[in-house]
Amino acid sequence: MTYESDHLRDRVAGELSRARERTAILTEAVDDGDLIRQHSPLMSPLVWDLAHVGNQEELWLVRDVGGREPVRRDIDELYDAFKHPRRDRPTLPLLGPDEARRYVATVRDKVFDVLDHARLDGSPLVEQGFAFGMIVQHEQQHDETMLSTHQLRSGAPVLAAPPPPLVKQAVTGEAFIPGGPFTMGTSTEPWALDNERPAHVVDVPSFFIDRAAVTNGQYAAFIDEGGYEDPRWWSPEGWQHRVSAGLTAPLHWQRDGVNGWAATAFGRTSRISADEPVVHVCYHEASAYAAWAGKRLPTEAEWEKAARFDPATARSRRYPWGDDDPTDDLANLGQRHLRPAAAGAYPAGASPTGVHQLIGDVWEWTSTDFHGYPGFAAFPYREYSEVFFGDEYKVLRGGSFGTDRSACRGTFRNWDYPVRRQIFSGFRLARDA
Ligand code: AVJ
Ligand code: FE
Repeated sequence: MTYESDHLRDRVAGELSRARERTAILTEAVDDGDLIRQHSPLMSPLVWDLAHVGNQEELWLVRDVGGREPVRRDIDELYDAFKHPRRDRPTLPLLGPDEARRYVATVRDKVFDVLDHARLDGSPLVEQGFAFGMIVQHEQQHDETMLSTHQLRSGAPVLAAPPPPLVKQAVTGEAFIPGGPFTMGTSTEPWALDNERPAHVVDVPSFFIDRAAVTNGQYAAFIDEGGYEDPRWWSPEGWQHRVSAGLTAPLHWQRDGVNGWAATAFGRTSRISADEPVVHVCYHEASAYAAWAGKRLPTEAEWEKAARFDPATARSRRYPWGDDDPTDDLANLGQRHLRPAAAGAYPAGASPTGVHQLIGDVWEWTSTDFHGYPGFAAFPYREYSEVFFGDEYKVLRGGSFGTDRSACRGTFRNWDYPVRRQIFSGFRLARDA
């Protein structure tokens, strides 16, 4: 065994353990009643996410990569996300909290054994540890989903974290992104998922993009100036949804006095912080705000060009700051803080063109429908991405404070229905040059 492969094995083991520590925090913070309960019809009971994470790990790493006997073939159907919609999951005969914990631990023991013996090359599934990386990302993605469930849970706070860093110099204004071709997507990032591939050249005309995401203060001005009452700013579907869902402000906002706003986050209610990015808005709210502001949302290609393209070298990098993995001073990721940071809190993470906080803080809505790139090939299963391609979903980019660094890159693509806002979603504005 080479040093290289030992090093990769250590990295995989470390990432698996880091994901499991986070899952433990999210599932041990509440009692059994809260694990089994459905906190919103949009979400699974936490105990479903827990065993589902173990079941995916069993399917891919124990059975497929490891070629081992199944641990619990009898529960595959219960934890198949396509067999049961989220709203029905609490009525299923799910594993109880202790059973689910024992199950995921048994699977994990076997996976460490598989990892000791598996080849990490020779087939696309295991090349550079891909299948293990996919499962690390899957667990971290469900951890972010569980964090959204915590956000929707009522009751006393159970999660705590220090506030994000303060801003030394506020960031406002726009950056100019020069027109021309750039490389979008990747064919070389080892743990990139199928929808990020392959790398391909896209010609993006010049545009301006805001250096910071739209803030609570800016969004409150839109509300106070009647933005939710004026169909002029809304698309026809957006307006219809605005009216039928009775939207009047972002999810979790409530009036505080006559003019102010407060928001509840993880069980604590406080006045909104004017300089922090607005979070928990749907695509329709984001596009209505953009129209009111006389701008628009960026396309997905514009977002990625702003995040990756270095005009000095004409090269696409892995992140806005370059090719190095995220660290704590570069981006607000990984649930280290339980809210987005104000514009300007991560100057070291800015792009060469001066765009801040593209990675972390809030997922950013783009105006682009979720489709495969030219040359897309489903890998290793159609149900990760391909079955969602079409005009029903909008792409979100950049990750949030609840996204782990292993599940966030300059090429990473998230998607959701344009009406969803239980995710940690915000936006930034762009305009034609
Ligand atoms: C990429 C966040 C849209 O949660 O539906 C989890 C990730 N896929 N299990 C989702 C995912 C399968 C996915 N998103
Ligand atoms: Fe899943």
